[in-house]
Amino acid sequence: MSHNNIRGMLIGDLILAPEAVVDLSDNQFEGSLPGKFNEADILLLDVSNNNLSGSLEQFLCPSLESERQLQVLDLANNNLSGVIPDCWTNWQALSVVNFENNNLSGELPQSVGSLSSLQSFNIRNNKLSGKLPASLLNLKSLQIIELAENDFTGSIPLLIDGEETKLKLVSLRSNKLEGEIPDELCRLTSIQILDLAHNNLSGTLPTCFYNFSIMSGRQKSSAIVLYDLPFQVQVLGSASLVTKGREFDYSTILYLVTTLDLSGNKFSGPIPMELMGLLGLRWLNLSGNHLTGRIPEAIGEMILLESLDLSLNQLDGRIPSSMSRLTTLNWLDLSSNKLTGEIPTSTQLQSFNESSFMANTLCGPPLAEICNKKRVSPGDSDGVNDDEDESDGVKWGFIISIVVGFIIGFWGVVGPLIASKAWRSAYFYFLYEVWFKIRIACRN
Ligand SMILES: *[C@@H]1O[C@H](CO)[C@@H](O)[C@H](O)[C@H]1NC(C)=O
Ligand SMILES: *[C@@H]1O[C@H](CO)[C@@H](O)[C@H](O)[C@H]1NC(C)=O
Ligand SMILES: *[C@@H]1O[C@H](CO)[C@@H](O)[C@H](O)[C@H]1NC(C)=O
Ligand SMILES: *[C@@H]1O[C@H](CO)[C@@H](O)[C@H](O)[C@H]1NC(C)=O
Ligand SMILES: *[C@@H]1O[C@H](CO)[C@@H](O)[C@H](O)[C@H]1NC(C)=O
Repeated sequence: MSHNNIRGMLIGDLILAPEAVVDLSDNQFEGSLPGKFNEADILLLDVSNNNLSGSLEQFLCPSLESERQLQVLDLANNNLSGVIPDCWTNWQALSVVNFENNNLSGELPQSVGSLSSLQSFNIRNNKLSGKLPASLLNLKSLQIIELAENDFTGSIPLLIDGEETKLKLVSLRSNKLEGEIPDELCRLTSIQILDLAHNNLSGTLPTCFYNFSIMSGRQKSSAIVLYDLPFQVQVLGSASLVTKGREFDYSTILYLVTTLDLSGNKFSGPIPMELMGLLGLRWLNLSGNHLTGRIPEAIGEMILLESLDLSLNQLDGRIPSSMSRLTTLNWLDLSSNKLTGEIPTSTQLQSFNESSFMANTLCGPPLAEICNKKRVSPGDSDGVNDDEDESDGVKWGFIISIVVGFIIGFWGVVGPLIASKAWRSAYFYFLYEVWFKIRIACRN
């Protein structure tokens, strides 16, 4: 009954057959989710995009304790409030839980970490707080964990388990997390989307990026199918991601996206060389941290990069000339750093707005500032002078080869004609003969 204009309360007397798939999404149902709904053993319940309010208590905590078969529970985009009750032990079949865009508050109960079949857990944009339960990130089947836009505090929990995780998307964006990125994060070998932006995280960036096998381009990604009931319903992994400064929803092509967003934190130290090994990465945002040092020369290896934002840091030195190899780049922001010298030339780099380079000491197009080659600061002498010597060498070689070529070509022909009378008459006779033959050919 989805995508209609049905109004009113949901009533518990609705007769639901076992193993039913119930889709009431995109209507105008209101009131709370009736407890009776959980009595029949349905497989899928989608009541997203309605006006439901009240708490989840009645539905999630049945009076009769027994195992439920429900696999997909989608209550996104309603006005549900109160705490997420600690009644998850009866819902072991659950594989997709979506509570996105509601008004849920309080802490996340520990028992959520006991959902052994869970593949996707989305509670984005609620008012949840407290620490993240470590057990949640360690669930073996979990592929998507979306906790963005809440008030979670404390540090990123460690991945205790020694085994590889299946996690493809981890978003802790816009919370109040602090501390360093734990080394255990390097065990996220399948990660494609890692969004830790807008927290209070600090320390240096990790160096173990080689372990991210999809981001580093060593392994292909595949579609994220969370639930599939042939000819009835298919639930794909979805997420809303910020790129090019705007937020977009991704679903069918989500698996093609690779992004690392660490912006808006307090990370310090240099950009690690190892980060440049993420050859499969498309979007990289390190904006708004305290990063120092140079942009690694190897950045030109990341040829799939479409969006690169290093703005609002303290990066110095020149822009590596290898950046002119990034031909798929269509968004660049290097503004508000301490970069110096000339902007390398490439069709791509000069096509960006000058605001991409502002608040640095850069020169050359697209900036209006013209590069004064004599006014090179001593600190930069290594790169600049090498470049200039090289281009001068190329220019001189070109001029010399033209002069030598002219001398050999011109005097090689004219010289013998002047020197010998016999050659001269043979040459003019040959020219006359060619002219004569052409005239005859034209007349015929
Ligand atoms: C969200 O819940 C709080 C109480 O937890 C309430 O004060 C507030 O009005 C609710 N917001 C909306 C939009 O319903
Ligand atoms: C990289 O992943 C492997 C398993 O895939 C793991 O054994 C190793 O400890 C990881 N490296 C780091 C630095 O965590
Ligand atoms: C961030 O952490 C610092 C200490 O490291 C603390 O003083 C500050 O209040 C925190 N800011 C926020 C917004 O939590
Ligand atoms: C990078 O992150 C900053 C801060 O979160 C944001 O303002 C900016 O728009 C992001 N850049 C891109 C290209 O999305
Ligand atoms: C460059 O960006 C500034 C502000 O961000 C804007 O006002 C200006 O129109 C842009 N210029 C071009 C050529 O897009």
